[in-house]
Parts: sequence; structure tokens; C-alpha cells
Amino acid sequence: MTDGLKMSHVSHMFGENRVLCDISFDVAPGELVCLLGPSGCGKTTALRLAAGLEKLQIGEISVNDMIVAQPGGYVEPEKRGVGMVFQDYALFPHLNVAKNIGFGLRHFQERDRDDAIKAALKQVGMLEYLNAYPHELSGGQQQRIALARALAPKPRIMLLDEPFSGLDVARRADLRDTTLHVLKDAGIATVMVTHDPQEAMYMADRIIIMNEGQIMQDGTPETLYFKPDNRFVASFFGEVNRFSGTVDNGRVVTPVGDIKETGLENGTAVEVLIRPEGLHIGDAVNGHDILAHVDAVRVLGEVNLLHLTLESGSHIHARVPRRFSANNRQSVAITLDPEMTFVFPIS
Ligand SMILES: Nc1ncnc2c1ncn2[C@@H]1O[C@H](COP(=O)(O)OP(=O)(O)OP(=O)(O)O)[C@@H](O)[C@H]1O
Ligand SMILES: [Mg+2]
Repeated sequence: MTDGLKMSHVSHMFGENRVLCDISFDVAPGELVCLLGPSGCGKTTALRLAAGLEKLQIGEISVNDMIVAQPGGYVEPEKRGVGMVFQDYALFPHLNVAKNIGFGLRHFQERDRDDAIKAALKQVGMLEYLNAYPHELSGGQQQRIALARALAPKPRIMLLDEPFSGLDVARRADLRDTTLHVLKDAGIATVMVTHDPQEAMYMADRIIIMNEGQIMQDGTPETLYFKPDNRFVASFFGEVNRFSGTVDNGRVVTPVGDIKETGLENGTAVEVLIRPEGLHIGDAVNGHDILAHVDAVRVLGEVNLLHLTLESGSHIHARVPRRFSANNRQSVAITLDPEMTFVFPIS
């Protein structure tokens, strides 16, 4: 028995265009899973199939152990117990907040409906806007009402498609936080689509990284960040320094240091990816140091970004704690953090 959402071996074509290729994943009650990937990789299509807005062609989808979609079998969207919030899921402009939320509760008794509307508004901190009209609300407030509308029928599954992307940074952070806590408190199985890795890291218990209709990796944010399965995943969470090399006696030599025990066969051509925070910078003191020149120091907020040139002439980036200061043209020593260094064979 699997409660929550289960997608099994789902593939999908639009005409000749295969947009999903054998996708399988589960989301448990109370779990928040982010689908993360570049534009056009099939994230929205996966959500629309789960919601029942798109007809399933291949595979199987179940909600709380009941099959809701299989080839030739189909449960209507409103009978799946699924709530949805989309980026452009506009509220009905001619209905006030209470009526917008009540729209999905038409089958409720009037008393119960009023209670459910108020409870949902309270969850998103908008109770005092019961009688407001959408045009009287800001974008962030409207998205809160859209969330309340999706929560009111007490769905078992919540599907969110880039729900914060139209909002400015402060509202976005605020609404992310509310959304996370409301969904966790209600024990709802949630899939949220985003193409922002930071947002996924902030929200997700698990992240599924997709590319060209396929799952590249499914794991906790920590696993994806520290143990990426492939180059795509390693470079998706931000900029990386890249070097190419060849395995010799198990090790790879790079201009920023040797990587030991790669576990790869001699002669394997590899690409080495190093996160900017995986380059530790210190004072140049002894003759064995790997040296670099500081070209520029940029303050990014919590960290500083150093633009460096190695003796080999390669240009690299290091992220260092903000208290670390270096002057332009200063010579510094580099050491590698093996946890932030990844070696992948080039196929
Ligand atoms: N109704 C449709 N008819 C034909 N092709 C479609 C349809 N919907 C989506 N596609 C195509 O399917 C592919 C996947 O689209 P999808 O909307 O799932 O991507 P996405 O990952 O959500 O992208 P984005 O991050 O830009 O929202 C794209 O190539 C898109 O052009
Ligand atoms: Mg999309």
C-alpha cells in the first residue's frame, strides 16, 4: 500500500515529440518533492498528467493506492482529491475571495462551506480579506488566495507549478515559507515545479532533476548537492569550475591539485567539476603551494567571489567566507575540498 502520489513508467508524446520518457516517482503524505529542470523538459506535462488535465498514454498514476489513470482508464480531475496552484491560475475576477474559494466547495452544506472557507483563509493569513475582490489584492495576496482555494477541499495531493515566479523577492520568500508550513501541517503529498535550484533546496524534502523528459536523479537536496550522479546534476546547482584530464594510477591531475582514488580505470578520459566553494584559499607560504593571482573580488552577500588566474593561465572562480579579504593581484594558495569535487567519465 502506497499512500500519496505514485507515477509509474509514465511516457508522453505530443505528436511526434516525446516529452516524457519512462518517468517513475512517489510522493508520500506530508512530503514535498520538487521537480526541477530546464525550460521544456516536461515538468508541467508531468503535473498535468497527475492532475488529470492531460490524458495518460503510457504508464500508471495512483493516488492513495487507487489507480486514477492508466491507458484506457481515467478518473476525472475533480474526483482525484488533487489541489492545484499554477503561476497563471487566475482567480475569478467577478467573484470575491469567499466566493472564489467557495466555488470548489459547491457540494458542501452552506455552514460547512463557510467554515471551510474561513479555515483555508486563516491558514494562509488572509482571513480579513474574505470580502475583497481580486483586483483589490496584490500579486502575492492573490497567490495566497489561490493556495487557500486549492487547500479548502482538503486535497490529499497538492500540485504547484511555479507558484511564486510572478512575485518579487520579498513576497516570494514570504509565500514560500507560508506554503511550506501549511502543506507540512496538513500532511499533504506535494509536487512543486520550479526551475530555480535555490527555491527547490529551500522547499524540498526531495528533488527530482529532469532533463529532456527523463529523470536525471531523485534524492534529498544534500545527496544531489554532494553526490551528484552525473555532470548535468553537478552543474545544475550553480556555476562549476571545469577541467578535463585522464585517469593515471587511479588519480587525476588538475591545475588546482590532484584527485586521488577516483575508482576509474587507467586511461579513462574525465571531466572534473569543482564547485567555487570547493576551492579553499589561503596565504601562499611554502614552495609546494598551488598558486593563483586574484583578478577581482566581488561581494555577493553572504560570500565573496574571487576571480582567479592560475599559473597555467586558466581562469577560475572561488567562493570564500565574507570575512576573508584578498587584494587584487595578491598571490594566494589553493587547496581542493574533495567533497565539492566531482569526477565523471566522458562518454
Ligand atoms: N499541449 C501541447 N501540445 C504540443 N506540445 C506541447 C504541449 N504542451 C507542452 N508541449 C511541449 O512539450 C514539451 C514539454 O513542455 P512542458 O510545458 O511540460 O515543459 P516545462 O518543463 O514545464 O517547461 P517550462 O519550465 O518552460 O514551464 C515542450 O517541448 C513543449 O513545447
Ligand atoms: Mg512548465
